[in-house]
Amino acid sequence: MDNKIKSTNGILILENETPEEVAKAMIESGQQKEPFYIFDIDEAYGRVQHFKKMLPRVQIFYAMKSNDNERMVKLAATLGLGFDCASPGEINKILKLNVSPLSIIFAVTSKSPYWMTYARSSGVRHTTFDSSCELKKIKQYWPDARLLIRIRVDGESIYKLGDKFGCDFETEAIDLLEEAAALNLKVVGVAFHVGSGCFSIESHMVGLRRTRTLFDHEAKAGRKMNIVNIGGGFLSDKTDSIDQVSKLINSTLEELFPDPTIQVIAEPGRYLCDSSSSMYCSINNVRKVTKGDETVNMIYLNDGIFGSLKYNEPWHTVKLFERRAEIKDDVPVKTILWGPSCHTHDRIMTNVDVFLPQCTPFDWLIFPRRGAYALAFASSFSSIQTPLVRSVISQELWKKIKDSEQFKSEEFVRTDISSPLPSTLPPIQNNTSSNRPNYTLKA
Ligand SMILES: Cc1ncc(COP(=O)(O)O)c(C=O)c1O
Repeated sequence: MDNKIKSTNGILILENETPEEVAKAMIESGQQKEPFYIFDIDEAYGRVQHFKKMLPRVQIFYAMKSNDNERMVKLAATLGLGFDCASPGEINKILKLNVSPLSIIFAVTSKSPYWMTYARSSGVRHTTFDSSCELKKIKQYWPDARLLIRIRVDGESIYKLGDKFGCDFETEAIDLLEEAAALNLKVVGVAFHVGSGCFSIESHMVGLRRTRTLFDHEAKAGRKMNIVNIGGGFLSDKTDSIDQVSKLINSTLEELFPDPTIQVIAEPGRYLCDSSSSMYCSINNVRKVTKGDETVNMIYLNDGIFGSLKYNEPWHTVKLFERRAEIKDDVPVKTILWGPSCHTHDRIMTNVDVFLPQCTPFDWLIFPRRGAYALAFASSFSSIQTPLVRSVISQELWKKIKDSEQFKSEEFVRTDISSPLPSTLPPIQNNTSSNRPNYTLKA
């Protein structure tokens, strides 16, 4: 008799179980062989609500580049958010959900003519620029666009976006605004981004002050701007990490932009999605190597930097999923984590010393809170499949969103929580009878 539990990719409605308990049940059942993510929809929902509560004046345009998982995006659409799209592919994904193109900002400052015509033909109206060259292209290919000038604001951030984007406030911004006016282009606002993973809470204030100056310049010239875009960059490690920065943003907005008709938007990515997903990874091999006096454990995982484990942020950790009682007493040893590909760069968490108990190929590791810029970066290098995502939702939230336009009722399932995800292995091809004259290997 086949005792196998049927695999499912549906959204699991939880009775009282936690997302961790679902992962544990999947692993313990032995049927889930491949690495997987658990996406806790309630956690993402909670982040959206908390952001709205802390920044009531600010409308969220979700930066879907951070996590474009269909269910995350559908949740954002259900909650009425706008979207920061950064490519025609992202625009297409959002429009397929029947979201209005007016809810999209195409927040890329350097676009090819065919990206512009794609956005324009799709009905998108808003985009950003930071150079004279871009303005000239916009004039030719998207002359009716509503533009936001992107200025550089460098915070103390893990990823300093100012290295790549944003004109200089002191030396370039005014000239660009004048050039846009001379070209008869409509600049409706100012955008900045303090960098992704920003630790300096005063950076948003700097951006808002510069924005005010540009608003004043335009007003003096008889041109009215009406959108302030404060970008993303909000830290994701704790739910309340937004609490401090939001106080400063709210008071600065009150001081500098008291006019309630000025629309204030933000493009958070990491803050909304990071904490909602954890990654569970199986081990395919372990080796012990001795170099000089040092013995190091090497663990070969089933996902790596060419998959979804490319970046390691300061708050990221890895733990052993404990299912064998005897493991608990092991003293953690220095461990190197390798990904599954043949590339020597495929080493995970190189920037920290990893200590783990002795592992075997039957063990699993847990990478908590890996919802942002993880699966979104996964490549198809070496035709290795990227992990699938098990989405879970509480009864309470399910009741709230089940009848929304985005989710279909059959997407939600009540099934054994240990059900594995469908296998990502490709189907087996049987070519043994082929007569093609390729080289063949000796028996
Ligand atoms: C224009 C823009 N907006 C928003 C974001 C999202 O930033 P974060 O995930 O740090 O909130 C990014 C990230 O690269 C971006 O480039």
